[in-house]
Amino acid sequence: MQVIITENKIAASKKAFSLLQQDIAQGATVLGLATGSTPVGLYDEICASELDCSALTAVNLDEYVGIAPTNPQSYHHFMHQHLFSKKPFKQSFIPDGTNRNADEVIAEYNQVLADHPIDTQILGIGQNGHIGFNEPGTPFDSQTHKVQLTASTIAANARFFASPAEVPSEAYTMGIGSIMQAKHIILMAFGEQKAAAIAATVDGEVTPAVPASVLQTHPNATIIIDRPAASQLR
Ligand code: F6R
Repeated sequence: MQVIITENKIAASKKAFSLLQQDIAQGATVLGLATGSTPVGLYDEICASELDCSALTAVNLDEYVGIAPTNPQSYHHFMHQHLFSKKPFKQSFIPDGTNRNADEVIAEYNQVLADHPIDTQILGIGQNGHIGFNEPGTPFDSQTHKVQLTASTIAANARFFASPAEVPSEAYTMGIGSIMQAKHIILMAFGEQKAAAIAATVDGEVTPAVPASVLQTHPNATIIIDRPAASQLR
């Protein structure tokens, strides 16, 4: 696990973009993508660049259950707004949150992942160490599944909704096992509120209690963080 500490999140996003460009130059064509506030700077870098994404495939980590792609809070909408509308990809996949038949969504998405093995996976991290919507306790070998969001994740995501009551309580997510299949994983984290999760991820025990700690066992994981997020590292 390589840890890169940058001056601020703009520098971190630029660093992530340069690593992504290197991967693409070396043949990466399938990008695993995340939503949330963390990767927005990276997506801005991609959109402002000359990078041609028309031969790339995007596979997103997760989507809320019961939210239409047109809903501004959906991850479909987020990806369109921050990336796909400005940089067309060859194709993009996001779990179908409108389909409440979980078995169907899971089978479809596991097939997407089998057909499009991820070259470079972009990740954020939750304050409780979650990656994707894999909350603490999720088995490391999990594949795509439906999750019940924890109170802390609902509270953290409430900032994007009019009230916490509007935050969906379920989501479909790639599993930790699916994420670990990626050839290269780039996890970014910014701000002091992520410092404890980053310390547990980098310096702590590898345990399902801290889902991101599994990255210590990945052969090619890069953690890019700003100084506040690095403040509790040993
Ligand atoms: C989003 C996702 C989540 C976020 C995490 C951090 O697709 O999978 O794991 O990466 O909740 O969210 P932000 O970046 O908003 O702090």
